[in-house]
Amino acid sequence: MHTGPSTLDRQAAFEAFLVEQREQDLLRFITCGSVDDGKSTLIGRLLWDAQQLYDDQLATLTAESKRYGTQGDDIDFALLVDGLAAEREQGITIDVAYRFFATQRRKFIVADTPGHEQYTRNMITGASTAQVAVLLIDARQGVLTQTRRHAYLVSLVGIKHVVLAINKMDLAGYAQDVAEGIEADFRAFAETLGFASITAIPVSALKGDNIAERGNAMGWYRGPTLLAYLETVDARTDESGGALFPIQLVNRPNSDFRGFSGTLARGTLKPGDTVRVTASGQTAEVQRIVTFDGDLPALEAGRAATLTLNREIDASRGDVLTAAASPVDMTDQFEATVVWLHEEAGLPGRSYDLKLATQDGKATLSRIKHQVDVNTLAHRAARTLELNDIARCQLTLSRPLAFATYEEAPALGSFILIDRFSHATVAAGMIHHSLRRAQNVHRQALAINRPARERLNGHRGKVLWFTGLSGSGKSTLANALEIALHERGIRTYLLDGDNIRQGLNQDLGFTDSDRVENIRRIAEVARLMMDAGVVVMTAFISPFQRERAMARERVGDDDFLEIHVNTSLEECEKRDVKGLYGKARRGEIPNMTGINSPYEPPEAPDFVANAGQESLERLVEKLLPVVLAAVEERPEEG
Ligand code: ADX
Repeated sequence: MHTGPSTLDRQAAFEAFLVEQREQDLLRFITCGSVDDGKSTLIGRLLWDAQQLYDDQLATLTAESKRYGTQGDDIDFALLVDGLAAEREQGITIDVAYRFFATQRRKFIVADTPGHEQYTRNMITGASTAQVAVLLIDARQGVLTQTRRHAYLVSLVGIKHVVLAINKMDLAGYAQDVAEGIEADFRAFAETLGFASITAIPVSALKGDNIAERGNAMGWYRGPTLLAYLETVDARTDESGGALFPIQLVNRPNSDFRGFSGTLARGTLKPGDTVRVTASGQTAEVQRIVTFDGDLPALEAGRAATLTLNREIDASRGDVLTAAASPVDMTDQFEATVVWLHEEAGLPGRSYDLKLATQDGKATLSRIKHQVDVNTLAHRAARTLELNDIARCQLTLSRPLAFATYEEAPALGSFILIDRFSHATVAAGMIHHSLRRAQNVHRQALAINRPARERLNGHRGKVLWFTGLSGSGKSTLANALEIALHERGIRTYLLDGDNIRQGLNQDLGFTDSDRVENIRRIAEVARLMMDAGVVVMTAFISPFQRERAMARERVGDDDFLEIHVNTSLEECEKRDVKGLYGKARRGEIPNMTGINSPYEPPEAPDFVANAGQESLERLVEKLLPVVLAAVEERPEEG
């Protein structure tokens, strides 16, 4: 079997191409379309017509067109793009395929992204570096939801020039009114999206009309061919603004050399320029710009290098260097547009890992202001973020990070959210602005602190977090434990789900997002009470491992004991003290934990109470020494 050039060869060729690109005029564009509107054929045709196919790719293509193609003995251009046979047969799917080609006038990098809805992530990845977007439309279908979604995403990532490639004109009789109708529909929709130009080009990717050659079929069309457009469009992006250099790593091969490595995200830098560390405000002059190919006289946006400075400064990975004259701010709360990329819904109150440039942090979705309907661009209320939802949200970070608005600097104004258990990228976001309250609320330093209170109490404050199904015996066990602790002079407090839900949390129900918020508040209250020097017990189902992890983190690993009251569903249902299981089985409760709402058991609890098998007395007997050991540690000096 002929496998064509290996992935590695192609990777090497691509990198060589990227190195050369600087001296040449280069256009980056993205193609967006649905599954069946001929995107692969269009790109294949473009590559073919630009006559930049490698000979060996051609040989493979001819052979494979016969084998897999849908065009008889003709070449199936779609195969060029859909990947080589070997990759297809291994079932490898390529997320974003970057292809390059060149004509006499320009070089091109095209990001091709799969069209299925669930690949929004790929589209955003591909679009984030593109200057032009080619939106494919099937002339027989017109503007679809998918087209609107793509147009909206493309505008979100800041692409200013859009081509509407109205494809399959051969199947629509090459009719002028069809193309013009589609163009008018699209323009009406895109009016508010802020594109600098929209160019509609009627094409047949299959036959080649208006791709590189005009063909004879659409004499009524006066505009450029797709290739002519791509060769001539002026899509230079505005690279103005002061230098921004997020530090990727501190490079210290020996004691004589200390450099800061990273990629310049915006502006230019020269030796002698003064830079500022965003977090500390310290400044220094750039001494050398070191690369593998020797020192550079100047560093341009998009290039990586290691900077040495004329004096020692405190800076580490994640810090952002800027031109001293154009500093950026830090914030721990901002408003952003968030695109949800995962099947598991985004829930306000849940905490996610956040990556912003080279900075890592934790972010909580504190509020969903509104969701955007991609069909009408109308705003609507939303309580959760589902796959492909686009929403304006407020986020709270665990610590201040350097940021810019997406408009000022996409590199420092965009972020991703990552699930803390699955490590999947669940969302991408673009920052609109910092929330002013982030700057105006400062922590009060208090004279009497936790160690002082603990010394007075004679024991440590702790959080004992009971989790388990409804009716598992959390409250009963916590209650018995509390009596035993109280008898030993330990200050305690029991926060119980059924009670708290009648007061502080009376606004919350039992949807996933309400449970997340329930636990978030309880974690905060528990933390405060622990800070007051108290041994806090919480008895909530707390069904999600993510929120229990969040609570542990908020409280602090050392101060948090997770106690799994491990009574089986069967047993809880048999007891059914509150009659809730019976109701749920009769369909009267929509989200009953264990029946039609999940319970995620702890993977590594600090204590397992087998309440179904052991007596209450025995459980307290076992748990008490564990708790006493924890609370009787000597309070810290402070
Ligand atoms: S949690 O899931 O958000 O942690 P929480 O512990 O506060 O739940 O409240 C659980 C208590 O609410 C249960 O013990 C039960 O008495 C009552 N309850 C009412 N409806 C439900 C439901 N749909 N699922 C679970 N518990 C419910």
